[in-house]
Amino acid sequence: MVEKGIILAGGQGTRLYPTTRAVSKQLLPIFDKPLIYYPLTTLMLAGIRDVLVISTPAHLPLFEELLGSGSQWGLNISYAPQPEPRGLAEAFLIGERFVSGHSCALALGDNVFHGAGLTAQLVRAASLESGAVIFAYPVADARAFGVVEVDRTGKALSIEEKPAEPKSDLAVTGLYFYDSDVVEVARDVRPSARGELEITSVNAHYLERGKLTVEILPRGTAWLDTGTVEAMHEASAFVRAVEHRQGFKIACPEEVAWRQGFISTDELLAIAGTLRNEYGAYLRRIVASPRH
Ligand code: DAU
Repeated sequence: MVEKGIILAGGQGTRLYPTTRAVSKQLLPIFDKPLIYYPLTTLMLAGIRDVLVISTPAHLPLFEELLGSGSQWGLNISYAPQPEPRGLAEAFLIGERFVSGHSCALALGDNVFHGAGLTAQLVRAASLESGAVIFAYPVADARAFGVVEVDRTGKALSIEEKPAEPKSDLAVTGLYFYDSDVVEVARDVRPSARGELEITSVNAHYLERGKLTVEILPRGTAWLDTGTVEAMHEASAFVRAVEHRQGFKIACPEEVAWRQGFISTDELLAIAGTLRNEYGAYLRRIVASPRH
């Protein structure tokens, strides 16, 4: 069972300058809530309540101000700095004490997932006893991502980081579930040609031992990138369209905590009472409406 999760929310965000010169990208809004709410709720839907948030020393206090101890959502959130963006695999070196011999998930702070059936897929991944589970998504141009190649039975054949000539159209998304070996595996990773400790090297280690499971996300699931100004705008437009049409919020931690049974109805209503806006009204509505 994977009961711990790390959210990596550091990096310089230079592609979004000047917007991210003073503020972390993962604190910027995707429509009606901060970007980090999306990976946080993804972990919560997997049943994870023990979360480590890693960010730059400058931005970490802002995340603490936003998320606090997590107890308002029935979570336990702790924080650790990453002084330099040395690569995604460093999350497990920084988080070694947090992981402390347990299995652990990693969610990139800028990845947005949404879709019917996703929760069941997440719960399945979180039930892993050994090995690793990654999620792949078919994309038109995979060159900007980790790329995994699978055979007809879904068995992983190869995995490469940003290949010039991708062997498949399956991009590796920023959500990973690992067994308790992951810290040892990350310790053996050496910097890549671009100077980073690549998560793809961690995944390659599991693949070489036949311990990498690839879950392919179906067409009904959206995986949204937020790497550029255009992509952030598109992600906001997507969330807005779905929320307006359905009347449900995507990635609302209060709602997810309540539906998961992490907090009671009284606790949810107490939070709603502090929010005199549409967000608070939404929390009251989901309790009151039988449709929900
Ligand atoms: O989004 C999925 C992709 O994420 C995967 O397909 C790739 O295999 C994986 O390497 C990663 O690629 P990116 O080039 O998109 O990663 P990026 O450097 O943009 O970092 C992703 C997030 O993690 C971003 O919000 C910044 C943060 N980050 C990044 C690094 C390198 C950190 O917090 N610390 C870091 O050291």
